[in-house]
Amino acid sequence: MTSTPSPGFKSKHMSELSRETIPQHIAIIMDGNGRWAKKRLMNRINGHRKGMDAVKDVVLAAREAGVSYLTLFAFSSENWKRPPEEVKALMLLLGKYLKSELPLMMDKGIRLRAVGNIEKIPPKERAVLQDSLDKTSKNSDMVLSLALSYGGRGEIVSAARSLAEKVQAGSLSLEDIDEDSFASNLLTSDVPDPDLLIRTSGEMRISNFLLWQLAYTELYFTETLWPDFGRDDLIAAISDFQSRERRFGKTSDQLVEKKVKLC
Ligand code: IPE
Ligand code: IPE
Ligand code: MG
Repeated sequence: MTSTPSPGFKSKHMSELSRETIPQHIAIIMDGNGRWAKKRLMNRINGHRKGMDAVKDVVLAAREAGVSYLTLFAFSSENWKRPPEEVKALMLLLGKYLKSELPLMMDKGIRLRAVGNIEKIPPKERAVLQDSLDKTSKNSDMVLSLALSYGGRGEIVSAARSLAEKVQAGSLSLEDIDEDSFASNLLTSDVPDPDLLIRTSGEMRISNFLLWQLAYTELYFTETLWPDFGRDDLIAAISDFQSRERRFGKTSDQLVEKKVKLC
């Protein structure tokens, strides 16, 4: 199977990345924890534990690269269907991660956000999450969004329902429903759309992640399993992103003309 990195791709150092085209927002589907553990004849939970260590490295590397928004898919609305012991372990790990990383988030000026049905998270972990959200709310160096109990279709349905309620109540007219007003009813209304989506573990699907927001996102797939993904892999993904031409429906010539005019 092929992954995205271009032929002849050479790994780069952080300082070799072009400063002008660092993606403002990177979203990551952190996949492959179970397979990482299985390869080592370990329980899947060990893979999740190891995956947590990878999160720390990648968050710090993203901040160092100058990424303003990082969104991590930590638990999908469909992941509730996993065996109860695995779900329980994942929730315990979430609480543990949030507690242990709070000092670092404060030190590095990272503001935590949560997207998803967080009311479904067990009360103990939800309280830890709320504490981290509150304590980091004034930080301004990078926004770290954790997608927890998140599903893109559910998010779109909720936005449609909330717009319909406003129309029914007479506070919004039908003509005012457009792409902007729709997007402002999504959970990500205060965050720009991702520039780059990374999915680890060789799977080439979106799995109900940010369905609306990924409309023009550059996609990057790597065979690397999430627990093995680190700083250098993030740099490789950013470097690959920097070699892309984002046309947003226009022609390549139009983009060159615009660049010439700007000079
Ligand atoms: C990603 O790893 C973590 C979550 C979905 C919570 P997986 O647990 O999906 O790992 P694989 O895909 O089974 O290897
Ligand atoms: C997507 O991974 C969700 C997260 C990484 C949290 P899954 O492992 O749940 O996705 P599928 O089931 O393989 O599509
Ligand atoms: Mg998976």
